[in-house]
Amino acid sequence: MDNKNISLIWLICGPSSAGKSTFIQSKKCKEITSLPENTPTIMAHTFQPNQVLNPETILHYNMLQSETLWEKMIGIFSRNGSKKTEFDFEKIPSWTSIKRARADIKAVVLVCSRDTLLKRIKKRKFVEVKGLNKQKLYPKAKWIKMISSVNLELLYRQWCEELKLNGIPFTLVNSETDTYKVIENESEMLNVIKQEKTKYSKAKIKEILKRKVFEYQRIELPYGFYTKGADRSDTRDTIFPDSLDGKSLLDIGCALGYMCFEAEKLGAKKVVGYDLKKKRFEGAKILKDIKGSDVEFHLGDIFTETIEEQFDIVLFLNVIHHLPEPVSALRKLSHLAREKLIIEFPTINDIKFKKTVSSFERSWDEFPFIGVSEINTAKQTFVFTPKAIERILMNHDKLFRKIDFLDSPMDDRKIAICHK
Ligand SMILES: C[S@@+](CC[C@H](N)C(=O)[O-])C[C@H]1O[C@@H](n2cnc3c(N)ncnc32)[C@H](O)[C@@H]1O
Repeated sequence: MDNKNISLIWLICGPSSAGKSTFIQSKKCKEITSLPENTPTIMAHTFQPNQVLNPETILHYNMLQSETLWEKMIGIFSRNGSKKTEFDFEKIPSWTSIKRARADIKAVVLVCSRDTLLKRIKKRKFVEVKGLNKQKLYPKAKWIKMISSVNLELLYRQWCEELKLNGIPFTLVNSETDTYKVIENESEMLNVIKQEKTKYSKAKIKEILKRKVFEYQRIELPYGFYTKGADRSDTRDTIFPDSLDGKSLLDIGCALGYMCFEAEKLGAKKVVGYDLKKKRFEGAKILKDIKGSDVEFHLGDIFTETIEEQFDIVLFLNVIHHLPEPVSALRKLSHLAREKLIIEFPTINDIKFKKTVSSFERSWDEFPFIGVSEINTAKQTFVFTPKAIERILMNHDKLFRKIDFLDSPMDDRKIAICHK
């Protein structure tokens, strides 16, 4: 082959917000690539198979680049990183075009932890298009969802394999900070990705989890630890949109704060949780400190607390059937919600409430019916059919514009999404 006309492509790659554009403009980039000033930069998704290339070109390459590829990439996405499905990079059209280009390719892989990526995404306003000068709004919701659920270690490892397979030499660069230290090997790369932003050591968290019982909700902690308790992720996925960017959220009866932490992860700017039980409140505060979270936790009874402020979203999950005065609680929370009140509640089908009626029929659920619980020990009180909730919130007072009732992932429970 005639090598004279072969161009050189420097692939600067990393997931969204790994700092590709900033790195391209840094001294370190010049140092690593030895590229001359004003080397043109092309965005990977605009790359054409027969593109006429300059002798030297920088290619800005997002390893998780295309929205339309979400479905194909789903194998590497799982919130707890348990899915191990291989990811087929061949399915990305721009990648196959790049590989077919008449060019030598070298790469820099920018390595970042999930925490850093998410922090940058939350602050980001614009996305680079075509040249690096034009701007359009950055789709935060999409990227928050992708980055918080991608198995990042697997993605980086497989990407390195893909580069090796294609004979592309690459340099790993730590892009956590703008010192851009070169990473010597892949095991060091994994340490950067897994880097935890907690002031607690692994041993300290282990010791706290051994010493204290955090029952009720399963909450993820640094270094792969988590509290024992119910996995509430199905309800989280039912009630939260892909992003809560800039929203404020109040969680009444938050227990250990699972939904609060998850709302914060999805970009909520102010998150406040209340719980009546001292043990849960103290547990939540310890977990907050371990996670380095900004959620505000309060010990308090919603009936006696004066909450002046309104919140975009108010959560009232699995609390209503513990209250002596549930209707007044519903009214109070309706006034605190600016956009939505979300209630998760047991219905009359729940075994604990069936004896409310002597001959139980499922059709009771069709009526605006309030039942009583047989379980006094767990301080249970009343139970509502969806129709009863609707009557209280929509007919007695027009407190909401509409209510959507969804099946809760918990047996015989429902979720009411009440819209202002
Ligand atoms: C069944 S748990 C539900 C926890 C959480 N919302 C969830 O769905 O995973 C009910 C929680 O509500 C709290 N709670 C009960 N009555 C309350 C009240 N009047 N004010 C604040 N919290 C209350 C309890 O202490 C308990 O932690």
